[in-house]
Amino acid sequence: MRLSRYFLPVLKENPAEAQIVSHRLMLRAGMIKQQTAGIYSWLPLGFKVLKRIEQIVHEEQERAGHIALLMPTLQPADLWRESGRYEDYGQEMLRIKDRHGRDMLYGPTNEEMITDIFRSHVGSYKDLPLTLYHVQWKFRDEVRPRFGVMRGREFYMKDGYTFDVDKASALHAYNRHMVAYLRTYERMGLTAIPMRADSGPIGGDDTHEFLVLAETGESEVFYDQAVTELTLGERAVDFDNRDEVAAICDEFTTLYARTDETHDEALFNAVPEDRRRVGRGIEVGQIFYFGTKYSEAMGATVVTQDGNRVPVEMGSHGIGVSRLLGAIIEASHDDKGIIWPEGVTPFHAGIVNLKQGDAEADAACESLYKALAGAGLEALYDDRSERAGAKFATMDLIGLPWRITVGPRGLAKGVVELTSRRSGESVEMSPEAAVARLVEIYAQHR
Ligand SMILES: Nc1ncnc2c1ncn2[C@@H]1O[C@H](COP(=O)(O)OP(=O)(O)O)[C@@H](O)[C@H]1O
Ligand SMILES: [Mg+2]
Repeated sequence: MRLSRYFLPVLKENPAEAQIVSHRLMLRAGMIKQQTAGIYSWLPLGFKVLKRIEQIVHEEQERAGHIALLMPTLQPADLWRESGRYEDYGQEMLRIKDRHGRDMLYGPTNEEMITDIFRSHVGSYKDLPLTLYHVQWKFRDEVRPRFGVMRGREFYMKDGYTFDVDKASALHAYNRHMVAYLRTYERMGLTAIPMRADSGPIGGDDTHEFLVLAETGESEVFYDQAVTELTLGERAVDFDNRDEVAAICDEFTTLYARTDETHDEALFNAVPEDRRRVGRGIEVGQIFYFGTKYSEAMGATVVTQDGNRVPVEMGSHGIGVSRLLGAIIEASHDDKGIIWPEGVTPFHAGIVNLKQGDAEADAACESLYKALAGAGLEALYDDRSERAGAKFATMDLIGLPWRITVGPRGLAKGVVELTSRRSGESVEMSPEAAVARLVEIYAQHR
């Protein structure tokens, strides 16, 4: 993409309405525009990151054997009357009437609808286990939408639903989600800690929230410092192996890590004092096992191997896809702007032409741009006739992890400069070497 032809409405001034850094930077970098309280348009740069995050979510769900589908945003109220939640859900649910006077709603979540799909098509243990998920817009009429996409009214969420014949299998599905989520967040450059949570209105026995540590987080968190050092890394995981998956969950949930809702002072005090931490965190996902709550109410049953008909065991598992943009920025920025982790960056690299209009510099930039594209890397080429300082400021603000600077002085020596946004370090090398270096870097983020 050439910046001269792109739509990147960056703001020079700090928007007054933004209270936290991620909201401020998303507005300043031209990623989102608020249309009304808690409802945003996703401008091209923001939309690109949203799609990268969604793509990682899909890849990790598929790796775990989960199956994507797509349910609508609008739902008939009758389904929710069956589960009893139409009345229970309260003011957060946006209720709508169609022209025939039928009650509809903009889905805040999809347990009822997926249970309806399941009961229409599945009736035997032979079709289990089954995990269906989608990534779809949700609406919750939050009392206080705030912090930009972090707490919106309309927001993008991955929600997955598991169906199993018995509780042991359902708990395996829960564990599988925990492991898939750990890798999902790691690929986004995040440390998201699974913390024991309160089940709240969905109801259920087992639930963990995933929290990204950040001062601006809405939850208070209590944890053992050692928990922040755990990583899943590149381990090959056999998602069908119950013991293997359970062992990973144990590894990540044994050390103390809880939110204020489930915090236990006595257990916390057993953590060695020098490792005890109190802080704040952003909830970027939650997994629930809730058994037969919906299947019983809605008649979703399966015939077991012994010929008995039983309500199917269920769980639901969510990732806040749009919230993740805010969480990643909270975790990765400096006073100049965003610093995208390679896994989610909207463009792999920026190209800054220090002397637009200089035949040699222009040609070198063009050829770099093509070489990167040929290697499967997308560059944002700043081909405007701006001063170098302004170009650097834009690149720093929008946070591409790598920048290639091209100017007549370097070209005379046959070099360009490759700069890391995170460390600020620059290295001079030939244009070919810069491309090769970026190919090598991004090979680790595929
Ligand atoms: N209002 C919101 N705006 C943005 N993301 C949200 C919002 N509410 C929930 N999410 C995201 O969706 C995920 C799954 O939602 P869920 O756990 O059902 O929400 P909650 O914790 O508010 O009950 C949450 O972990 C969070 O990341
Ligand atoms: Mg939650």
